[in-house]
Amino acid sequence: MLAQFNVPSTIIVGAGASREAGAQAKRFGANRVLLVTDSYMKQCGLAGQICDSLKKEGIATSVFSGVQPDPTDKNVLDGLSEFKASKADILIGFGGGSSMDTAKVISILANNELPMSQYAAGPDKVPIANPGVPFMVIPTTAGTGSEVTKVAVISDTERDVKMMILDINLLATVALLDYELTMTMPPALTANVGVDTLVHAVEAYVSKKANSMTDPIALSSIRLVAGNLYTAFKEPENKKAREGMMLAACQGGMAFANSSVCLVHGMSRPIGALYHVAHGLSNAVLFPSVTEYSIPGAPERYATVSRVMGCASEKDSDEVAGAALVKELQELNDKLEIPRLGECTGVELSVFDERVEKMANDGLASGSPDNNPVVPSVQEIIKLYHKAW
Ligand SMILES: NC(=O)c1ccc[n+]([C@@H]2O[C@H](COP(=O)([O-])OP(=O)(O)OC[C@H]3O[C@@H](n4cnc5c(N)ncnc54)[C@H](O)[C@@H]3O)[C@@H](O)[C@H]2O)c1
Ligand SMILES: [Fe+2]
Repeated sequence: MLAQFNVPSTIIVGAGASREAGAQAKRFGANRVLLVTDSYMKQCGLAGQICDSLKKEGIATSVFSGVQPDPTDKNVLDGLSEFKASKADILIGFGGGSSMDTAKVISILANNELPMSQYAAGPDKVPIANPGVPFMVIPTTAGTGSEVTKVAVISDTERDVKMMILDINLLATVALLDYELTMTMPPALTANVGVDTLVHAVEAYVSKKANSMTDPIALSSIRLVAGNLYTAFKEPENKKAREGMMLAACQGGMAFANSSVCLVHGMSRPIGALYHVAHGLSNAVLFPSVTEYSIPGAPERYATVSRVMGCASEKDSDEVAGAALVKELQELNDKLEIPRLGECTGVELSVFDERVEKMANDGLASGSPDNNPVVPSVQEIIKLYHKAW
């Protein structure tokens, strides 16, 4: 099987990396930048630090802070209008996955026709002749890995689905990975985005599209999450743990974007679209039961994950290691105070059940479950939602 591997051409990693924003924007020959972010990042002053770095290099900045968590098509269109009005030459996506994904899609729409949904109809739908406007990304969560992926997830408000756009033009030219920006993440956010990272790495490793380029990166990400997530959750100011999680997020992103995500993400997006549950949280609540369901399709792979996480040793059989992994994932959710699916949705099971078949169908239609070690039917997906309830 051939494997294609794409990452941003420049990734700068380490404490203070975000202060390179001005120098990097200068390399683009930019005169004006549109910083795409959310209202919290603007109000807490972190966005201002990036503007200062740009100012030092004589680059003017306009700020669009209209990104909502789990961004919508409307957020992207508002940002696109702002980009055109500001006459900026480049974009910076600054914040969590929501801000970075919004900047990515503004970038391609600045040079291409609407509607946005046409670019979600399959991979690489942006014409080669019309690449997007150059953009830089600076993550403040650890994380979605969006800083290194050719993926953006945008909610289609008319159809109530999360569109996944997968396109080589969604790769940033520059990614600045500064773990110091993540020190302000509150524990619940640390937990949600941290489990998202683990799901990326595990799904990339067990996916039918796993390959020799992504395997070592996925395992490294899993090892880093096992060693650092709980510490980052318990001790928000622990620099070593924050740094470990920033690296894990980046590696998880590289792994899944060049392999794939699988059933957890397929089932998670409809929960986000209908109940506005944060992406990492909707993954986390599904992770133990979907893992248990999927192990028979790739017992050796899951056993390796279990051993890398320290849940089993080389002496344990794959069967014992797989069972230990499922137990560990549930215990991790409990330690990170992740609630059950029912609590996240905020509705009664009878109300959830009215739309569960649409959710299962939407999840399957996204294509992600096709890469899962075991490909479920609609009825099996419904059972898995109930198991996570
Ligand atoms: N493109 C990809 O490859 C990819 C991968 C996974 C997920 N996603 C998408 O990313 C989005 C989720 O992103 P996210 O989980 O990073 O969160 P987010 O961007 O939605 O942000 C969540 C909240 O955290 C706040 N926040 C961000 N950084 C902070 C910090 N350092 N301190 C305090 N608060 C901070 C934000 O202001 C916001 O209120 C979803 O839409 C999901 O679908 C994209
Ligand atoms: Fe994710």
